Amino acid sequence: MRIVNVENLWKIYGKDKEALKGITFSVNSGEIFSLLGPNGAGKTTTVKILTCMIRPTRGKVEVMGYIVPEQCDKVRERVGIVPQEFQGFSDLTVEENISYFVKLYGGDKSQIEEIMKGLDLLDFRNTKFRNISGGYKRRVAVACSLAGSPRLIFMDEPTVGLDPRSRRSVWETIKRVRDAGVTVLLTTHYLDEAQKLSDRVAVIFDGKIVRLSTPLELMEEFRKQSLEEAYLALMESLGDS
Ligand SMILES: Nc1ncnc2c1ncn2[C@@H]1O[C@H](COP(=O)(O)OP(=O)(O)OP(=O)(O)O)[C@@H](O)[C@H]1O
Ligand SMILES: [Mg+2]
Repeated sequence: MRIVNVENLWKIYGKDKEALKGITFSVNSGEIFSLLGPNGAGKTTTVKILTCMIRPTRGKVEVMGYIVPEQCDKVRERVGIVPQEFQGFSDLTVEENISYFVKLYGGDKSQIEEIMKGLDLLDFRNTKFRNISGGYKRRVAVACSLAGSPRLIFMDEPTVGLDPRSRRSVWETIKRVRDAGVTVLLTTHYLDEAQKLSDRVAVIFDGKIVRLSTPLELMEEFRKQSLEEAYLALMESLGDS
């Protein structure tokens, strides 16, 4: 089943900034799907449209069977989000931040504990959000996206700025939710992460999808041993320096 369906999606900011130039893709229920591409390619724009933060200029967008933007109320109630620029409540503790979202999305209390445990946040549960380090703030962002056990989660660079061990603990969380049947749409610049986690990847370049395949298919196309090498070869072929 297609949980996300996007056809010929355009986003023009202001008068003439064409951030998305007619992208088409769909995400299957239960998969980890990654959007890759250089800075400014249009990844966050795509995520923001799918999570009803901004409106599409034109094109067809369906999320969990609901039409965007017309049925955005339904979409917002149902999806989890790790925004690229997450701002927690700075004067609330880690636990209070998570609890805020869990209550908002109708999760039960036991979920708060479970989420903190899964992301190694228990030691900081009583520390105010503003006093934890950048990497921990990122983990709280991931924690909040799990509130209410959504069936579809959008994560825009969830592991940016995390140390290698913390990154792995977020990978484990992503795999755990996927194993529970949750669909994850991810963006990342870490190609090792994309290779390890993704069932399929879409590469966006200058507002267009230039590849949509499994990591292995992309590696085979460029005869490379890693997704990172294949990605770099693809960028070179596109004249991106
Ligand atoms: N509100 C806006 N107004 C005008 N232009 C914008 C706006 N938001 C984004 N853009 C432009 O749209 C393009 C796509 O931006 P977007 O944030 O989607 O890229 P991205 O792929 O997420 O990049 P990054 O990897 O750096 O996060 C960029 O050229 C950006 O400058
Ligand atoms: Mg972005």
